[in-house]
Amino acid sequence: MKAFNVCTAILALVCLHATGTKLVSTTKEEYLKEINKLRRDAAKKYKIPNMYKLFWDYTLAEETLRSNFRGLWATRRKTYRDSDPLTEVRNLDSDLAIDNRAALVEEYKEEEDLHELEVLTPGQQKIGCIEWNKKPYYTYCSLEPDGTGTSWNVSSGEPGSACAQGFENDDGLCSPVFGPEPTAHVTGTKLVLTTKEEYLKDLNEIRRNAAKKYKIPNMYKLFWDYVVAEESLTYAKDGMGKTKRQTLCDSDPFVKIRDLDSDLAIENRTALIKEFNNRLMFEIEVLTHGQQKIGCVPWLQSIKKKDGVSVNFFTYCYLEPEGTAKSWNMSQGEPGSLCGLGFENDNGLCTPARPTPTPEPTTTTPEPTTPKPKIVGAKPTAPPKALRLESDSDSKPAQDSNQPTDGASYGQVGMTLLFLISMMF
Ligand SMILES: *[C@@H]1O[C@H](CO)[C@@H](O)[C@H](O)[C@H]1NC(C)=O
Ligand SMILES: *[C@@H]1O[C@H](CO)[C@@H](O)[C@H](O)[C@H]1NC(C)=O
Ligand SMILES: *[C@@H]1O[C@H](CO)[C@@H](O)[C@H](O)[C@H]1NC(C)=O
Repeated sequence: MKAFNVCTAILALVCLHATGTKLVSTTKEEYLKEINKLRRDAAKKYKIPNMYKLFWDYTLAEETLRSNFRGLWATRRKTYRDSDPLTEVRNLDSDLAIDNRAALVEEYKEEEDLHELEVLTPGQQKIGCIEWNKKPYYTYCSLEPDGTGTSWNVSSGEPGSACAQGFENDDGLCSPVFGPEPTAHVTGTKLVLTTKEEYLKDLNEIRRNAAKKYKIPNMYKLFWDYVVAEESLTYAKDGMGKTKRQTLCDSDPFVKIRDLDSDLAIENRTALIKEFNNRLMFEIEVLTHGQQKIGCVPWLQSIKKKDGVSVNFFTYCYLEPEGTAKSWNMSQGEPGSLCGLGFENDNGLCTPARPTPTPEPTTTTPEPTTPKPKIVGAKPTAPPKALRLESDSDSKPAQDSNQPTDGASYGQVGMTLLFLISMMF
């Protein structure tokens, strides 16, 4: 029975990735472009002067995955969508008539999901979605910062004529006037998006130390890759074992599962390489020399080892481009002495050679350069005291719930992972 369930989960995942136009990481830009086109068209048709351009937000997408509803119905809305691109559930001509706007704002207090109106809410600036599998919806999105629909409470006007400071009229949509990117803050070692830089720094320090201790001449510096992170979020398996590996990590930054001194001893390499074929190698995965890209999502998994000790993992990562153990089949040497063309020795790690304009490894596909909007628009005021909120844990601000509340794809990924893990110990 268990096996059957697991297979069902795997099949479901395979099917999830097999369909056409829906949201997958490779079509995110296209998806966003469609939604912004809908917004621009609506702004023109209904003379909405304060319709903002939407930008993708990875934190929102991740929090949607984790069912973290921070700020829901205060500064955030959620919606289920199909993907091509808008099912008609509402009567827009009637809903958006100026005379009906007050009723519309009232409806935002009562309804959890106003369907296509959610992505048309003028004040929204950020969207993050995950794949979903509830017919007929294949996408589940969160939008910020208008949780109350008050941005509908405007008079008709020229599209793009009522943009907040820092925004300009971009053919009917309010788009941010771009300035320099704010520098990221670093606050700890647990992987959340805000501490990703710190997490990566830890991992690269571990790689550097391992390169020195075990005399590894070709250990590459890891770079964060959003596409890889998204693939791990949606459990995209293409290339697994060929150009990609997966691993579970805890966050500070990894639990000791392997005995590195013994496992990495030169006379044990043949055994190590053999083991790589069918196992998750835990901390050895993040030490695999040839890896250059990593992308992780927050995770929660407790695993009991053979010896009865439970280990918690809080992070699930994909690494690229190495899918096999071939870089472990090497001779020892001075760390950083065997870097590929275009890389240089940076204190023991192979790093892309300066003066490359962007610190990307040469094999990396270029990161989509979606600029981040400055959220400086009018902040919605205090959340309405809607009845449904009172019994809802969602209304607690900044509550970080790791438990899915619902049949989320998260659960499916978990089941599939469990299946993998059951082969590990
Ligand atoms: C709309 O805005 C006006 C003035 O800004 C305010 O008095 C009114 O209460 C608002 N209506 C709603 C439904 O929020
Ligand atoms: C190689 O592996 C064996 C078996 O796990 C272990 O007993 C031995 O100590 C390892 N070799 C070294 C040099 O650590
Ligand atoms: C290591 O590489 C050599 C030559 O490149 C090859 O003959 C050998 O089979 C490899 N060893 C393993 C364990 O893969």
